[in-house]
Amino acid sequence: MDYKKVVAERIKENVELDIETIEKLIEIPPKPEMGDYAFPCFQLSKVMRKAPNMIAEQLKNNINKDGFESVQNLGPYLNFFLDKSVFISETINKILTEKDKYGSSNLGEGKNVIVEYSSPNIAKPFHIGHLFTTSIGNSLYKILSFEGYNCIGINHLGDWGTQFGKLISAYKRWVDEDKLHKEPINELLRIYVKFHDEAEKDPSLEDEARMHFKALEDGNEEEVKLWTKFKDLSLKEFKKVYEMLNVEFDSYAGESFYSDKMDAVVNEIEDKGLLTESNGAKVVMLDEYNMPPCIIKKADGATIYATRDLAAAMYRKKTYDFYKNIYVVGTPQALHFKQVFTTLKLMGYDWADDCKHVGFGLVKFADKKLSTRKGDVIFLEDLLKEAIEKTLGIINENEKEKNKAIENKEDVAKKIGIGAVLFTYLKNNRERDIVFDWKEMLSFDGETGPYVQYTYARGKSILRNETNIGDLQDADYSKLNSKEEFELVKYLDGFQSSILNAIDKLEPSIVTRHIIEIAKAFNKFYNQINIKNTEDAKVKNARIKLVESSCQVIKNGLSLLGIDVVEKM
Ligand code: ARG
Repeated sequence: MDYKKVVAERIKENVELDIETIEKLIEIPPKPEMGDYAFPCFQLSKVMRKAPNMIAEQLKNNINKDGFESVQNLGPYLNFFLDKSVFISETINKILTEKDKYGSSNLGEGKNVIVEYSSPNIAKPFHIGHLFTTSIGNSLYKILSFEGYNCIGINHLGDWGTQFGKLISAYKRWVDEDKLHKEPINELLRIYVKFHDEAEKDPSLEDEARMHFKALEDGNEEEVKLWTKFKDLSLKEFKKVYEMLNVEFDSYAGESFYSDKMDAVVNEIEDKGLLTESNGAKVVMLDEYNMPPCIIKKADGATIYATRDLAAAMYRKKTYDFYKNIYVVGTPQALHFKQVFTTLKLMGYDWADDCKHVGFGLVKFADKKLSTRKGDVIFLEDLLKEAIEKTLGIINENEKEKNKAIENKEDVAKKIGIGAVLFTYLKNNRERDIVFDWKEMLSFDGETGPYVQYTYARGKSILRNETNIGDLQDADYSKLNSKEEFELVKYLDGFQSSILNAIDKLEPSIVTRHIIEIAKAFNKFYNQINIKNTEDAKVKNARIKLVESSCQVIKNGLSLLGIDVVEKM
């Protein structure tokens, strides 16, 4: 039950404030002796022309206290104390009845939400920065779907633009087919870099590249064939990573998908009187909004990134009639999206306000010894493999130390290792930079993926060892009156509100942090209360149900982050 709502309704029965205002005023007190919810009476004092502490006293006398242990006034505050055993049994019953659905709702029913994420560039490495957009986008997709929104996950591949003319030139001149076969992205990167070096010495190469791109745009067979080859090779590499991460998309409509939809957009902008000439280029002026112009066509007549984004937004509106169109793209592109959204607005599309850019920070390294194939770029595939290997090493050590065998070691290492990396990306406010540190990330203590995973497995092992779990009626919740038990249940109860908050701010870390709090509260409970030796069978059952509920909520929470749990470790 949502007790905050109940509190608000009870107050509403006695005062002249609307329910939303009351809900906003309700606080969670800092100390348990001040109750579980508190309502400050200052605002009422103006309406009722009475001192706040007198209002609090009056409310205390008149309010319906059903379902609460007590309602008390303390100075200007009205404090509500939950009937703990009712609260605990209701919460646990709800979790164990709803299971994998606990925390979900149909809030978003009938609303289409586009989540655009990952969107790597063809013929370029899928590097560690791309995991930021991939993990946040994947998590937002899951979180929104969990609350009933109909999500469409789009991978807006960077697969169009003048750089493909350069790549075709480079390919025809310098490719090593053998290397291309073995390490496609590295070879494509190598020849692309070489093109730039050579073009500095011989600028005519640029003309050649332009010619190839033009031919590609015109659908010339040779160029299309090469471009398709680059794209296929790249996607094959990217899909290896998506498979490791268990990430999927509903659509791979990338930049090239819009190549034939661009003329219409340019014409429309022109018809609406928004197109201006500037140094040979065609632009939409945005001075009024304190922004540089949005370039629509370059001086050589080629359309660019922004034009394709305009076409994409319009296509998405037409095809999906979205409620929200979310772009999970690094913060350095904030200006680009502002320009695109403002241009759409100038074109008369009010739905431009439903387009949201979800930015994120940079990834930095604490230790420089990360394995790289070559150069400075760290391929995500290598990073994930290293995480799995390192986790396997830790598991092997633990086995020796504790002298116990772990089943399905490879699978456990994969789930924990990849989970640890994802957890690191999703743990903090997304705008914050990540400092990557293997030791910290893979540690079983602290606010890490392995810590939460371990907590889950610990709970599961208790459940495996306790075979006499009766049904829900056989549990006596009235004796779960320790501080630890009550705190844990409060966090379990607050799970959905953390999800709704995450949706409100498009910030998965709010869910991550809540799971961390649940794991911490669980471990406090586990260390403080002797579950195994609880004498009264019904009380013991109640505690076991609490363990089961905690595991369930941790599992539901991790799955919203795209992380799998392991039953034993
Ligand atoms: N391909 C781009 C990159 O890797 C990101 C694309 C972002 N999405 C968009 N609709 N512009 O930087």
